[in-house]
Parts: sequence; structure tokens; C-alpha cells
Amino acid sequence: MNKEFMALVTEEVEENKFVKRIMKRAIEEIPDNHTLVRVHYSSLNYKDALSARGHKGITRHYPHTPGIDAAGIIEVTDSSSFNVGDEVIVTGYDLGMDTNGGFGEYIIVPDEWIVSKPRNLTLLESMIYGTAGFTAAICVYEIIKSDIERKSGKILVTGATGGVGSIATAILSKLGYDVVCSTGKKEQSEFLYKLGAQEIIDRKELEQSSSKPMTSAKWSAVVDNVGGVTLENAIKSVKMHGVICVLGNVSGDYFSSSVYPFLLRGIKLIGIDSASKDMTLRKYLWEQLSDNWKIDILNDIYKEVKLSELSHEIDKILSGEQVGRVVLKHNF
Ligand SMILES: NC(=O)c1ccc[n+]([C@@H]2O[C@H](COP(=O)([O-])OP(=O)(O)OC[C@H]3O[C@@H](n4cnc5c(N)ncnc54)[C@H](OP(=O)(O)O)[C@@H]3O)[C@@H](O)[C@H]2O)c1
Repeated sequence: MNKEFMALVTEEVEENKFVKRIMKRAIEEIPDNHTLVRVHYSSLNYKDALSARGHKGITRHYPHTPGIDAAGIIEVTDSSSFNVGDEVIVTGYDLGMDTNGGFGEYIIVPDEWIVSKPRNLTLLESMIYGTAGFTAAICVYEIIKSDIERKSGKILVTGATGGVGSIATAILSKLGYDVVCSTGKKEQSEFLYKLGAQEIIDRKELEQSSSKPMTSAKWSAVVDNVGGVTLENAIKSVKMHGVICVLGNVSGDYFSSSVYPFLLRGIKLIGIDSASKDMTLRKYLWEQLSDNWKIDILNDIYKEVKLSELSHEIDKILSGEQVGRVVLKHNF
């Protein structure tokens, strides 16, 4: 197909020196069992920012177009599951990692990565959620599956003003859980209360190391975006049979723990990997996000940007300054 389109492209200009710019790219040949999607919306996740800045742990080969999320309309397919004109969502797998992603106006993806957009979501809404919302949904699913009930007690969400944190707060609150939000942005308290937070704590409270193997039991469950010492403290203060969804590392890749919270309180650490979730669960969670778990203030938690404004937003997410979600709208 002889067609050009606009994309944000990160190039490695010298070894480990990266620049990002907006440029024209050509649509490549479409391999068998692959589909061409015209991307109407994408969204910004922390991982996209790392890929866009140049991070060989995420993207091995540059030049590259990041964007682990895309929502759009099928233009070419030979799949028996989809038709030209279908509205679809693609998140995770290798999209935006080593496969050119949603920061370009077109993507070519294997058919098995594609989810039909649920009827009760618009393309825009699906990208307000994006991977952040899908990941929050996995955490909610795991919490429910672990028999954590409303009466079990408070749930802690760390990094609460971020993409995953804000959506996890909103879904859990909608389902009737008492959510305590840990944040470094006290000035965003109104936003967090609007999402449904019952209580807000300063993230510094969770950043103090202590040699105690356990502290007083406070949380029935934790959704942790942060890692490091924050995660260590969360492990020490989870109640009997509580769970911790370990999903992020914005403040640290490593943590240590004694075995005591596991032996004496029977707690569970649950690793969350949104990229490779199997298709059956993926479809179920997208249906939940469009229905029972659909958050009432979805339209108040995002800002829409153009491709030309994305670079600034990438810098902001890397410095921990984003609040809620950033949605990229492609203009054709
Ligand atoms: N496992 C998976 O499948 C999966 C999927 C999606 C995301 N993730 C990971 O989850 C994390 C959050 O992703 P996101 O897209 O929601 O990012 P995000 O929008 O940037 O949110 C991260 C939030 O963490 C807090 N934070 C930032 N820097 C911090 C620091 N140095 N110490 C403590 N807190 C800090 C901030 O919230 P406050 O100011 O409110 O504290 C920030 O808004 C990232 O590590 C990302 O890679 C994992």
C-alpha cells in the first residue's frame, strides 16, 4: 500500500543518544494474519515515555514509534473474526515495544492482539482507560478473586493520581470499597476525593524504612504503582489474608521483606502483567470496564493532546507530574 502517515519516531542518533521527532512514515507490507488499523486515539503510559526517551530494556530496536495503546478502525484485514470498518482496541502484547505503536496514525498488528470495542464504550473512552485502565481492571479482578470484600477493610492505592492509580481508585470506590490514596500531590486532593477516595495520605509516610518485620495491620489489599520502600512498607501492613497487586516501579525496582507477613498473616503478592493477559480474560475485563465497572467521571480524568503536544507530556510523566490520563487524538 503506497500511503504515508504521521508518527512520533524516536531515533538513536549515536550509541545511547536518542531524539524524538514527528515525521512521515510509509505503511509497510501487511504480513499474513495481520491487520491494518487506522488509529484514531492512543494514550500515554509510563512505559511509552521510557520507550520514547530511549530505553533498550523496553524497545530493543530504534528508530521506533512508541504507543502501547491504540483504538481505531480496521482498514485492511483478511481475518475471519473482523471486518473492514470495525472499531477495535489494541493494548499490550508487543505493541509500542518493538512493534511500531499508537503514536503513529496507522498500526499493523497480528489479528490475535485485536479486541472488538465493547458497545458501551466509544473509541475515545477506550483510550481514556488504555493500558492504565486495563491494568487497574486486572487489579480489581485479582482483589475480588482473592475474596477481599467491602467489609474486609481499607484498600491502599499508591501513586494514586497517576493513570493506573486514579482508575483503580475510581473503580474500587464505585464497587463500594473504602480506598485510601497515597500521593505526593496533596494539591490534587479534590481530584482524588472526586474519584471516590475516602482518605488521602502523604506518600512520604510510606517512604520511611524500618527494621520491623511487620507493622500494624491496616490494608485488606494494596494496589502498588511505586515499588521500592513503599512496597516494603505495604507488605508489612497488610491484614490477615490480604493481597498486594505489584504492578509498578516508579520509585524502585527492588524491595526486601522478611517472611513473617507471609507466614503469620498469610498475605499474597500478586504480580500484574497487563501486556500478555490472555484473550478470554482480556475481553471479559474490557466488557467490565464498559459496563459494571465503568467509572462515572471517565470524562473528567483525561486531557486530549495532538501529536505535536505529546513530547511535552512525555517529559511530564517521566518526572511524575501527570495527573489522570493523557489521550492522543490523531487528526486526519
Ligand atoms: N504491570 C503492568 O502490567 C503495568 C501496566 C501499566 C503500568 N505499569 C507500571 O505502573 C506504574 C504506573 O504507571 P502509570 O502509567 O499509571 O504512570 P503515571 O501516570 O506516571 O503514575 C505514576 C504515579 O506514581 C507516583 N509517583 C511518581 N514518581 C514517584 C516517585 N518517585 N515515588 C513515588 N511515587 C511516585 C505519582 O503519583 P502521586 O503523585 O499521586 O504519588 C505518579 O502520578 C509504572 O511503573 C508503570 O510502568 C505496569
